[in-house]
Amino acid sequence: MNSHPADGAAPSLRPSPAADSAFLRACRREPVPHTPVWFMRQAGRSLPEYRKVREGTAMLEACMRPDLVAEITLQPVRRHGVDAAIYFSDIVVPLKAIGIDLEIKPGVGPVVEQPIRTRADLERLRPLEPDDVSYVAEAVRILRSELGTTPLIGFAGAPFTLASYLVEGGPSRNHEHTKALMYGDPQLWADLLDRLAGITSAFLSVQIEAGADAVQLFDSWVGALSLHDYRRRVQPHSAQVFSAVAEYGVPRIHFGVGTGELLGAMGEAGADLVGVDWRVPLDEAARRIGAGKAVQGNLDPAVLFAPGEVVAEQADRILAEAAGLEGHVFNLGHGVLPQTDPDALTRLVEHVHERSAS
Ligand code: CP3
Repeated sequence: MNSHPADGAAPSLRPSPAADSAFLRACRREPVPHTPVWFMRQAGRSLPEYRKVREGTAMLEACMRPDLVAEITLQPVRRHGVDAAIYFSDIVVPLKAIGIDLEIKPGVGPVVEQPIRTRADLERLRPLEPDDVSYVAEAVRILRSELGTTPLIGFAGAPFTLASYLVEGGPSRNHEHTKALMYGDPQLWADLLDRLAGITSAFLSVQIEAGADAVQLFDSWVGALSLHDYRRRVQPHSAQVFSAVAEYGVPRIHFGVGTGELLGAMGEAGADLVGVDWRVPLDEAARRIGAGKAVQGNLDPAVLFAPGEVVAEQADRILAEAAGLEGHVFNLGHGVLPQTDPDALTRLVEHVHERSAS
């Protein structure tokens, strides 16, 4: 693996000023003063201040500018008072950084000019070196000093979800080319996911070494798989990522959508917390995930379009379902939708803090 903190050398991290935050305490399944809240996609198009600073700058270009990354990452922390910041970037940034010809098309998502489908194509996926993403380390360092006691979450795309973009050439409903490769050439598939696991591990290591307090592995589209195929063809590669960064001792979160049937297997892949979408109640999700792990979730992001009382009611139901669990981080079941009223998010943070205060 190309990924590891200097093979064998124990990584030494500076103690974080956020170590005693509600978020990191919940990740460690320790008692908390209130249930911590953050939102996937909290930085982005739902905020007018985001749209303003992004004007005239393409998404991937913005991701390479540490000043802009830091500002965008801080915007939702200032506005909503969330308990954690998520580093502003995209799951395809490390792929761009190793020279894959891709762009992020507004309203569409990542598009890859030449999809990866053959053994010869694999050669284009070289290992990621820290120097390829020096702007990421720089932005994380700026953020770590600006954030004070608020923790910073780093992230990366999981091997399956990255493979889906690379093999399809863009966003896909049915993942047909991806599955054709997975079933049709299992060895090529395994080699592809192995390379992606290496790139992802290296990308997470860069963020952790620069000061990220926790990391989330986004396997957004893995719910498209059966449990059988997930276990055989994907889980070992996600597990490879979690074990590559285990030594750092920062909490590792594992998230996917439509994963009700996969939660047990995702728990086994090695994360400390598992993110759950809105389809499975958290108490049942925790039962499926298994003991010794915290859960994150799981308000349906569409509920934020309903009246405030409904949002509060749904949040209370989620808090009640999580009441008996050892560690709960409140989040949405997937990312903030672009049309969401930012004030609804701010009120939700206040509500969860008030209701859960001990
Ligand atoms: O606030 C945060 O959560 C941090 C920022 C973040 C972005 N992408 C910024 C972004 C994170 C964590 C991601 C991860 C990501 N990117 C995922 C996993 C999370 C998930 O939602 O499941 C996935 C699948 C992608 C791929 C991707 N990139 C998509 C589907 C899109 C949206 C396309 C569109 O325009 O509707 C992107 C682009 C993207 N990534 C935007 C943002 C803010 C929108 C582009 C813009 O603002 O110009």
